Amino acid sequence: MPVKIIYHGHSNIEILSGSHIIQIDPFYTGNPLADVKADTSKAQFIFLTHAHEDHVGDTESIARRTGAIIAANYEIAVHFEKKGLKTAPMNHGGGKDFPFGHAFMTIAFHTSAFSDGSYGGQPGGWIIQTGGKTLYHAGDTALFGDMELIGKLFSIDLACLPIGDNFTMGPAHALLAAQMLKAKAVLPIHYNTWPPIAQDVAAFCRDLEAKHYIKGLVMKAGDSHAI
Ligand code: NI
Ligand code: MN
Repeated sequence: MPVKIIYHGHSNIEILSGSHIIQIDPFYTGNPLADVKADTSKAQFIFLTHAHEDHVGDTESIARRTGAIIAANYEIAVHFEKKGLKTAPMNHGGGKDFPFGHAFMTIAFHTSAFSDGSYGGQPGGWIIQTGGKTLYHAGDTALFGDMELIGKLFSIDLACLPIGDNFTMGPAHALLAAQMLKAKAVLPIHYNTWPPIAQDVAAFCRDLEAKHYIKGLVMKAGDSHAI
């Protein structure tokens, strides 16, 4: 069964696997790159990397409409549980079976507060295993040495890595990350949304293929790709 991903700009990714619809960081409203509005999402599961607005995005409205289960760190899960939504609280190093397969929460080096300043726990990344494929969404993070360990623990078919610089690692560090993760392919994310994170994504993907023989995907919001 092919696993399809749809990119909605920034770090917003939909994963379609059989009858399952999994979404990571559903940021539509206020996302200058978004190709569609939040009310088009049919997510059954929403995975959040951290509490920043450009990642939590439209989680609440989508989950209210679709009944999606929100998987996030404990603090973010409690935040949404208090609003009467269904959650799957998890934390770093923990894995859990879901109807679509399995999810594992990795570490990330970043911060994580809600837009009102309240505590959003620690930021993370996600390994999503579904339909025989393994996807890694790094969330917002600096380059860190344990990416090598993540690459040993999981055989990653597609790594979604931030390349924007300024708030996360930039292209040079993302190249190293891809190599450490031994990812078969990389989807660059978290770039060109706003001027401080403008990057030449084509140049990044050329370097990735030329230096590390790893396929880089240049996707515009609305593009889909079969893993
Ligand atoms: Ni962030
Ligand atoms: Mn961000």
